[in-house]
Amino acid sequence: MNIENYRKDFPLLATRSHNKSFVYLDNAATSAKPVQVIEAERRYYEDFGVNIHRGLYEHSAKATRLFQETREKVARFINAADSRSIIFTHGSTESSNLVATSWGKVFLKAGDAVLTTELEHHSTLVPWQNVCEKTGAKLKFIPYNKETGELDCSSLPDLLQNVKVVVINGMTNATGYMPPVTTIIESAHEHGALVVLDGAQWVSHKPVDVTQLDVDFMYFSAHKMLGPTGLGVLYAKLPLLDAMEPYMFGGDMIDQVWADRSTWAKVPEKFEAGTPNIAGVLGFSAAIDYLETVGMEHVSEQEARLLAYALNKAEKSTGITVYGSLDRTKQGGIFSFNLEGIHSHDLGTILDACGVAIRTGFHCAMPYMNLLGVAGTARASFAFYNTLGDIDRLFEGILQARSVFG
Ligand SMILES: Cc1ncc(COP(=O)(O)O)c(C=O)c1O
Repeated sequence: MNIENYRKDFPLLATRSHNKSFVYLDNAATSAKPVQVIEAERRYYEDFGVNIHRGLYEHSAKATRLFQETREKVARFINAADSRSIIFTHGSTESSNLVATSWGKVFLKAGDAVLTTELEHHSTLVPWQNVCEKTGAKLKFIPYNKETGELDCSSLPDLLQNVKVVVINGMTNATGYMPPVTTIIESAHEHGALVVLDGAQWVSHKPVDVTQLDVDFMYFSAHKMLGPTGLGVLYAKLPLLDAMEPYMFGGDMIDQVWADRSTWAKVPEKFEAGTPNIAGVLGFSAAIDYLETVGMEHVSEQEARLLAYALNKAEKSTGITVYGSLDRTKQGGIFSFNLEGIHSHDLGTILDACGVAIRTGFHCAMPYMNLLGVAGTARASFAFYNTLGDIDRLFEGILQARSVFG
């Protein structure tokens, strides 16, 4: 894989910060965007930037066609059998709230249980806390084993009693640990529970096949996979979407409206009220093309290489605690760590002065930080366009932090 050639497509990677070449290691927060994505958005606004669905004129027909073609492209990308299973949302957060509100609040009742983990991003955990509070359903957690840094799934059959839905991530954003999703989905289905998969960190870094996984709901964000901000996807099995109430009401999601009542459009429009992020969808189309050109297997391999390099350097250093699974094959491209005696925010500030961007703090995962017994961590998260040189710069910054605080 010719990383240097790919890097030329990403203007962000050629910028400078604090008068140094910029090293971007906060890809779990959002990825850099290639010129192809920026160009696709610009082309829409300049050449045919009108609304979809509503116009009978040529430009609107073109925008509508490209919008719908992107839905089909997304379906192919995750191997969904039917593009009507693809709902465009504002991001993973909205997708998560949509499922919790339109499925959870309608179909759960007192006596039911929701099984999740304390490793979830707040946008995945908090909506289900709210569902349980409103419906009387019980929120249960798969135990976490602090020794291994993994979930302890040995008691899953017991835990799944009365569980109607399991809510789990494919890769945690805080440490990069990847729970055994396939086992959890199989076990959940054997016990009659549905599975909601937070794919925000997964779909952007690994090949994902929703048909093979047989997952019921899955969501992810375009901006974490080279695409624009303000756009996400909810995948769901069609019968579930058909049975669910709309999440938002307004134009485009209706079939008939009378003064006192309305009926709904079919899926997916039923869940896409209002003017969508058309430019974003067309940019996302270019992002998927780009990822397919690189190849998701190559993305995943390169990120594994970067992680191995970082872990190897960490092992040779003293006073670095690395978080996540001890079994490195269960880790995605996230290097989450703390330096003895140095607060992660202080480290982040020193690294920033060195031109290296990482994320510090609790990573929208406070319960996970509580399990780890830390207030936060320093997180370097990789994308396929990162180089070993980027990681060398990270460790140079770590040395500098040591000399300042040591
Ligand atoms: C694992 C995980 N889930 C959900 C989200 C929420 O994504 P968004 O902010 O794009 O809605 C994030 C964002 O960092 C995440 O890392």
